[in-house]
Parts: sequence; structure tokens; C-alpha cells
Amino acid sequence: MNVSDSEAISGILASAGYLSVDDIENADLIIVNTCAVRDTAVSKVKAQICRFKPLRNRKKIKIAVAGCLAEHEGESLLKDLPIDYVIGPDRYKFLSELEGGVRVSVSSTDDENGFYSGFSPVRKKGVNTWVQVMRGCDNFCSYCVVPYVRGRERSKPSKDIIREIEGVVSEGFPEVTLLGQNVNSYKDGDLRFHDLLRHIDKIKGLKRVRFMTSHPKDLSDDLINCFGELSTLCEYLHLPVQSGSDKILAAMNRGYTNKDYRLLIDKIRKRVPSIALSTDILSGFPGESDEDHALTLQLVKDIGYDAGFMFIYSKRKGTKAASMEEQLKREIKVARVNEIINVQMEITKAKNSQCIGNIEEVIVEGVSPRNPSKITARTRTFKNVILDGTASEVGSFLTVRVTGSTGWALEGEREGV
Ligand code: 5AD
Ligand code: SF4
Repeated sequence: MNVSDSEAISGILASAGYLSVDDIENADLIIVNTCAVRDTAVSKVKAQICRFKPLRNRKKIKIAVAGCLAEHEGESLLKDLPIDYVIGPDRYKFLSELEGGVRVSVSSTDDENGFYSGFSPVRKKGVNTWVQVMRGCDNFCSYCVVPYVRGRERSKPSKDIIREIEGVVSEGFPEVTLLGQNVNSYKDGDLRFHDLLRHIDKIKGLKRVRFMTSHPKDLSDDLINCFGELSTLCEYLHLPVQSGSDKILAAMNRGYTNKDYRLLIDKIRKRVPSIALSTDILSGFPGESDEDHALTLQLVKDIGYDAGFMFIYSKRKGTKAASMEEQLKREIKVARVNEIINVQMEITKAKNSQCIGNIEEVIVEGVSPRNPSKITARTRTFKNVILDGTASEVGSFLTVRVTGSTGWALEGEREGV
């Protein structure tokens, strides 16, 4: 979402006459887009901003902190950091008139819904591009700062989404990823997310659609039925579970149980057995016991995700979990997350080995950073395949036979050549 927001920021600044520079020494303005979901991200970005201090003094460069940290910490950032402006995620249209100093406070009024519909994002060249379909989150998971810093859920009108995707297809993007904090609670009047996918599927020239992030409690049968039916919809689903313990899931306010989640996965796999699944796990939530942790490990083993993103619980100011007793020691959180990461690593390797021999449709994304005679390509299931090729093939579709696995990526050869 932040990468997509940065593209929107570039578009807004371009319309105000700014040009982007390759050398930071030539900049008049530096915008640092930030994440506030975990403390590690916040500390890193603050350290980065402090490193700009000599440059700012020397060159009179202005520095703006944008994004969720701006919204979360607001005015106090002006005191703590060598910066000039603080601007929250729904206020980027004020970037063209930066006199205000501080522009925060998420809003859900129509004219400031954060979709920046009057501006064209400056999209990074490539195969895939981002299209925001909704913003904000109403779920209030007890550990999460997002509802506070990105505000209430708002959906972009479906006709605007269709027009935007038609535009990116005509610019040459064959693939879009639909973005939202909670994409499957998308609604435009009576139209729901699955209806939107069906409309998008009809767009001429569009080859692949992905979406993230989904919440298990909103993953309807209608949406599951789109998989395997819509030719553009890729067989990949990111479905964060966070924990395998019902006690912790309830304390997190996730709205489902371990059993509900497992039944959902069974339903999805029954519909599309080959679907690839990934998840987010949050380790070390307040009050998480050894038994709770063991339940999470067991769930990860039983589901057999293709990939997982594991996080250490980070206490966020203003959230319900921040005031819970029984905050765990860092050593315990680190040990638990490492255990889960190691289990998932083995599963990922095993899953990738199982792909050997498969015939896959891939799209070429670029030249391998490690070997210039190789290209990296992506399966519909979001796996990377490395094969012989050249830069001129970027964007083309190939049929490959998977011949090996490096653990993380697959190796392949062109089929029928
Ligand atoms: N600490 C650690 N991880 C968090 N996430 C959200 N809030 C926190 C937090 N306070 C994780 C969740 C979510 C992902 C985007 O970030 O796992 O799915
Ligand atoms: Fe945060 Fe929960 Fe909303 Fe995801 S669904 S953004 S974890 S509050």
C-alpha cells in the first residue's frame, strides 16, 4: 500500500511541477513515506531521516514525513526530527502547497477519501501494477494501528476502478494487484468484491489479477467461487491467520476461530486444489502461552502454506493490546517467531520441490540480479521461476517445465522449444 501511495505522491507532485531527481543532492524536497505497523519500521525510518540532517543544513532541502508514522505521531515529529512537514496518508493533495507544516487527521469525506482521483500515479515500470480499490480498516484488531492511522473503510467507485485498469492495460501492464487493507469488504452500493472481480475479468488485454489483503471473516463463498472460474484471477491467496489459538484470536478481535479458519482453507482447496496460500503470523501477543504458541505451530504445519510472513508483536500506542497485562519478554517473542520461521522455511522448500515436473504459464518479470544470462518469471501461483533468457523478453508469457528448486525459487526450461 505504501509503494502504491508513493506512486500517488509522485503523481501529485508531478502535477505541481516537481521533477524527480536521481541524485538526492539535487533535490529541493525529500518525502519519506513511512509505516507505523511495527516499531522496527519506525526506528529505521527515524534513523534514516536523521542521516539527511547534514544534507538539509548544507543544501536547504525541505524534508516531509508522509504516511502512517506522520498520522500516528503528528506534530511531535517536528520536534524530534530534522524535518519541515508532516503529512498523513489522506492529505497528500496538500503536497502541492506545503506551507502548512502539519497536515494529518484521516478523513472519510468524499473530497478527501484518499483516492486522489484527480491525479495520475507515476507507476513503476514492470509487469504488475497496483490499483487501490479501498482504503482504511474498520476491524480494529487489538494489536493494530492501521484503523487509527488510515481511518474508516472507503471503497473506490467501481467505474473508476474499471477505467483505471483499462488505462494501465493500455499503458502495457498485463497484471494488476488490487489493493486494500481489507479488500474483501469492498462495496460500491450493492456491488461486492466478487462482483468487481467479475467486471474486471472482462477487461480486454488484462491477463492476471491478484488482490491483497483478505480477512478470513469476510472471505465469502461467492469470492471463493471466483477462483478457478475467472480466467484472469490467479491461483494465489494471501490469508493472514495471525495465531492458531482461539484464546489469542479472541483477544486479537479477529472474529474467527482456528476451526473456522481451517474449514475456510478446506473450502478454498476443494475449489482449487492447486491454489498457493500465504499468511501472516503475529508471534508473542500479550498473554500468549507456550500452549498457544504450539497451536500456531501446529496450524502452520497442518495448513502447509507456500509462504509466510512472520512478525514479532510490537506494542503500538493507542491500541487495545498496548494496555493489556502480560506483555511478553523480547527473548520469548524472538524465540517463538524463529521457531515458526524455521518450520515455514522447511514447508516452503518442500512445497517448491513438489512443483518439479509441473508445466506452468509464467510471465517474464526481469533479468536475474544474480546471473545476467537468466531471467526471472512468475507463475500464476506467485512463485519465481529462473530460466535462460534475455531482457528483451520482459513482459512475455512463456510455458515452462519446472526442472528444479533452489529452495526459495524454482528453476525451469521452456517447454516445447
Ligand atoms: N506488531 C507486529 N505485527 C503487526 N502486524 C500488524 N500489527 C502488528 C503489530 N502491532 C502484522 C500483522 C498484519 C501485518 C500486515 O502486520 O500480521 O497482518
Ligand atoms: Fe490491522 Fe486487523 Fe485491519 Fe489488518 S484487518 S489492517 S490487522 S486492524
